[in-house]
Amino acid sequence: MARIELSNVSKRWEEVVALEPTDLVIENGEFVALLGPSGCGKSTTLLMLAGIYRPTTGTIKFDGHVVNDVEAKDRDVGIVFQSYALYPHMTVRENIQFPLRFKGISKSEAEQRIKDVARMVRVEDLLDRRPSQISGGQQQRVALARALVKRPQFLLLDEPLSNLDATLRIVMRAEIRHLQREIGVTTILVTHDQIEATTMADRVVCMSKGRVEQVGTPQELYLRPNNIFIASFVGAPQINLVHGHAHGDVVSVRDRILRGAGLAAGAVTIGLRPEHLSFAEDGLPGRIGDVEMMGREMLYFIETDMGTLRLLEAGTAPRFAAGEAIHLTFDAADSLVFSRENGALIPDAHVFLSIGAN
Ligand SMILES: Nc1ncnc2c1ncn2[C@@H]1O[C@H](COP(=O)(O)OP(=O)(O)OP(=O)(O)O)[C@@H](O)[C@H]1O
Ligand SMILES: [Mg+2]
Repeated sequence: MARIELSNVSKRWEEVVALEPTDLVIENGEFVALLGPSGCGKSTTLLMLAGIYRPTTGTIKFDGHVVNDVEAKDRDVGIVFQSYALYPHMTVRENIQFPLRFKGISKSEAEQRIKDVARMVRVEDLLDRRPSQISGGQQQRVALARALVKRPQFLLLDEPLSNLDATLRIVMRAEIRHLQREIGVTTILVTHDQIEATTMADRVVCMSKGRVEQVGTPQELYLRPNNIFIASFVGAPQINLVHGHAHGDVVSVRDRILRGAGLAAGAVTIGLRPEHLSFAEDGLPGRIGDVEMMGREMLYFIETDMGTLRLLEAGTAPRFAAGEAIHLTFDAADSLVFSRENGALIPDAHVFLSIGAN
């Protein structure tokens, strides 16, 4: 078992609040990502789990035992930092072996473990080389092996892929995910990359300015973001956000009137994902602006009387050219409506295009 429970955990340095009081449970074997922009408190949270920082308030429990006073070396965690800094003067074998040095493990047992873990991360042929003699992706795997060789209960990863090029990042994402499933180690990944978080993790903890804004599966964050911050942070290309005013069952957006359901009167922000907009015979009139080719998808920027909207559709060549007049539509069920007063999602509120009514 390896379950983590944070109760009322916070961290501050004099004036700086790195983490507001936070409750969070991470289940045994789960892969959880801490996601948020720079400075939101992700690394601070991870370092408290590692035992490197002490919480200002609250308790951290591993399997029901409070570990606040347990030193890092006694916490049974494997860590990979952003700068995974292998020891340059040591071979790959010596690097992987390093965490075992005071563990009272026999030489043959250590050798077996190094072999096992090296095979797992596919560096078994590189054991006699030095870090300077292997590639970035291989160094990354060695760092992972070094974190896993103790067979820790918890694996803590702080931006482990940020030093890799884009292609290798995608490969390593899948490899780490696969490895984690295979060995079932409870894993916490820190990242500011929403694609990394949502492709790798079972659940994502979305943070902003020292606060947990939402915890959910990638799908939950995407389909039902709690607030405007999450809606705009999760999902690429970014969600369309347009300001409007709700009164009765209509929403006015600039000169356009939309119908609405489940609304309260007041200032609202409507969220429409680019892939939820589609071209139609009838609907909201618009004019094609820029078109971005994104491999197998086309991203259109469309001028409408609700503002510029992004529309994403599958395709390897644009269907429309800049300047062409088109209509677009969306399903009411895909629309999100947020209160502009506090940014919160208004549950079950939707907007409709009332075709021909304008
Ligand atoms: N040792 C420290 N002393 C004082 N303030 C700190 C310390 N460590 C972090 N902070 C502050 O706490 C806040 C959270 O920092 P943290 O490193 O947790 O952010 P992060 O989410 O990991 O950001 P990044 O994505 O840039 O790594 C920041 O405002 C940071 O300046
Ligand atoms: Mg950090």
